[in-house]
Amino acid sequence: MIKAVRGTRDLLPPDTALWNFVEATARDVFRAYNFQEIRTPIFEVTELFARGVGEETDIVAKEMYTWEDRGRAESDRGQSLTLRPEATAGIVRAYIEHKLGDRGLNKLYCIGPMFRRERPQKGRYRQFYQIDAEIIGPPSAGSESPARDAEVLEMLATLLDRLGITNWNLQLNSVGTPTDRVQFNEALRAALQPVVGQMCADCQRRAVTNPLRVFDCKVPEDQSVIETLPRITQFLGEDSRKHFEAVQAILAKVGVPFSLNDRLVRGLDYYTRTAFEFTHGALGAQNAILGGGRYDGLSDALGGPAAPGIGFAIGEDRLVMSLQEKTPAESVLRKPDVYVAPMAGMNGDAARLARELRRHELVVELGDDAFRLKKSFEAATKVGAKYILIVGENEVKADAFALKNLATGEQVSIVRANLAAWLRSNRG
Ligand code: HAM
Repeated sequence: MIKAVRGTRDLLPPDTALWNFVEATARDVFRAYNFQEIRTPIFEVTELFARGVGEETDIVAKEMYTWEDRGRAESDRGQSLTLRPEATAGIVRAYIEHKLGDRGLNKLYCIGPMFRRERPQKGRYRQFYQIDAEIIGPPSAGSESPARDAEVLEMLATLLDRLGITNWNLQLNSVGTPTDRVQFNEALRAALQPVVGQMCADCQRRAVTNPLRVFDCKVPEDQSVIETLPRITQFLGEDSRKHFEAVQAILAKVGVPFSLNDRLVRGLDYYTRTAFEFTHGALGAQNAILGGGRYDGLSDALGGPAAPGIGFAIGEDRLVMSLQEKTPAESVLRKPDVYVAPMAGMNGDAARLARELRRHELVVELGDDAFRLKKSFEAATKVGAKYILIVGENEVKADAFALKNLATGEQVSIVRANLAAWLRSNRG
């Protein structure tokens, strides 16, 4: 038997109803904040992620699905391509390519699969899904303002509340600007020098190439050393400090609770200033349901115009997991309102009736005239229909149909003209 590849999975009904509920709610909330949808390709040239996310990050160094293209055309052949491990770099590429800033398209969201070759475990997959949103624009549009950071965070709090996810915790930090980090990196290198020998091989490499990434280390034995290292917050310049304070002041004003976490540096190199994660108690080790931050230099790094931005990605797999405790998929699933059961030779009439009902936005399951009545009842019960409607010659002649409630056994006869309206007002 051929099975799904390790780290990938099939999302099956009824769970897919929960996924649709999450996505529909996200779209609704995003609309209220004037975000519009963008869909970028699932693969991009490898260089986009190398330059955007950063060569030294775990994502780029270890986790990407990369291959050399074998196109027929000279221009394709040998090109290094990568399945997107995240959405931000692709969105910023599209922003630059289509000059979206000139068209005032500054608030974008994207929903779809991402790919990282991580060790699969509960809440961690190799194909996973993100709901990603970004505010990006020219500095003249105020895209650098702390008001945007706070708006994004408040929107997230609203979305989680709307979904009924309550016990989340917003962790907030500022990772400063590249200028702030010059001094910080020096201090970090100095602090690492005497201790790095005791750390894992990755940290030994990071200490030389990109010391900030030491904070991404998950090796338990290294944590006591990491605890002693200097923190970026001690090195923030005046502007970054003020920016961070302004974000916090707005959050306090709009009533979004947060905790400061000066170890939070996020595993991607493009972040500047505000960085954040929302965690959720019920998720265990992989407890970050979403993460994000500001990336004021990303557009420039990709060869575009100055376009500061801030955004986030929700791990949809994890969000759905944290929802599942309280909201069973069945509660958001729409079961058939009616099962239309044709008697012998009545498939055509039944199809006509089903067509009429479906046009009135009823969920209709259509049976088959080869089924005996008993089998129709069984099939109607199995699909969870509320009513069964028998289509026989007598019913068609009388232009009135018997509807039986499958749970209570109650039966009513309704004339064809009133059927849809009756079912709509009596559905579950
Ligand atoms: P990230 O922290 O790498 O950020 O991923 C965001 C979220 O995606 C995580 O908090 C987690 O919920 C989910 N996630 C990541 N990897 C996996 C996995 N292997 N399996 C299941 N879920 C996963 C980013 O991707 C940034 N692009 C976010 C961003 C947008 N920053 C600014 N704008």
